[in-house]
Amino acid sequence: MTRIVYVNGDWVPEAEAKVSVFDRGFLMADGVYEVTSVLDGKLIDFEGHCLRLDRSLSELEMTNPHSNAEWLAIFREIVAQNGIVDGMVYLQVTRGNPGDRDFAYPAADLPPTVVLFTQSKPGLADSPAAKTGWKVISVEDIRWGRRDIKTVQLLYPSMAKMAAKKAGVDDAWLVEDGFVTEGTSNNAYIVKGNRIITRALSSDILHGITRAAVLRFAAEAQFEVEERNFTIAEAQEADEAFITSASAFVMPVVEIDGAALSGGKVGPVATRMRELYLDEMRRAAL
Ligand code: PDD
Repeated sequence: MTRIVYVNGDWVPEAEAKVSVFDRGFLMADGVYEVTSVLDGKLIDFEGHCLRLDRSLSELEMTNPHSNAEWLAIFREIVAQNGIVDGMVYLQVTRGNPGDRDFAYPAADLPPTVVLFTQSKPGLADSPAAKTGWKVISVEDIRWGRRDIKTVQLLYPSMAKMAAKKAGVDDAWLVEDGFVTEGTSNNAYIVKGNRIITRALSSDILHGITRAAVLRFAAEAQFEVEERNFTIAEAQEADEAFITSASAFVMPVVEIDGAALSGGKVGPVATRMRELYLDEMRRAAL
């Protein structure tokens, strides 16, 4: 099915959607993005994604081209135009097309490039992988130092994902100075008894929107939340592990660098957090 995509205010069939070769997103990875899930035709944690988009843009000295109400209308329109029941909305905002290549930013009044498209994923919340869990390997984290900005500079995460694929597993956990930062495109957690442990927020990791919600629900469900560094060795000894992201929600991790956790089976805490997250977020979906 041909998707209808959004490009700078126009709704066009995907084959007709065009961005300039001089666009700074293309030449410099000078742009930011958001991935928002859709369940039952409704947007999951839309406000969280809007807030982070605004922060990413301001960290790069870019003006947010739309109010949250305008974004909501655009998101709803693209979901409707493409008949998305379950899936994702991808949004990218770049610094735009200055008409040539230059390291310096163009004038602040250059209009940004705004692109949205949808991905249909029927049964997204019932992913069979959630029943069996992911296996991960660890790789060195050699990304840049502003991972809190959700830029489209995703080459190293892609390389790490390929290393995972070549190793026959699902994802890679990135390790810096001996401690896990996050997954290639998700936040990482371990579970010890009643404690859920995940790295604290800083410019070392993306401030996951799913992470914020999951930690809130975890505290409400009387889990102890510990925001601190952990090593791969500690993770391999943990009772359970899981990751969170807007597209995978809460995904159990059952093997880390060949070491099985909870007998290689999905554990009760990851299962509970996934259910809690999906129930609460479906209820609040827009
Ligand atoms: N990735 N860490 C990284 C490096 C990410 O790329 C992502 C999201 C997350 C989780 O953030 P959130 O819960 O807000 O999705 C953490 C998206 C899903 C992607 O690139 O497809």
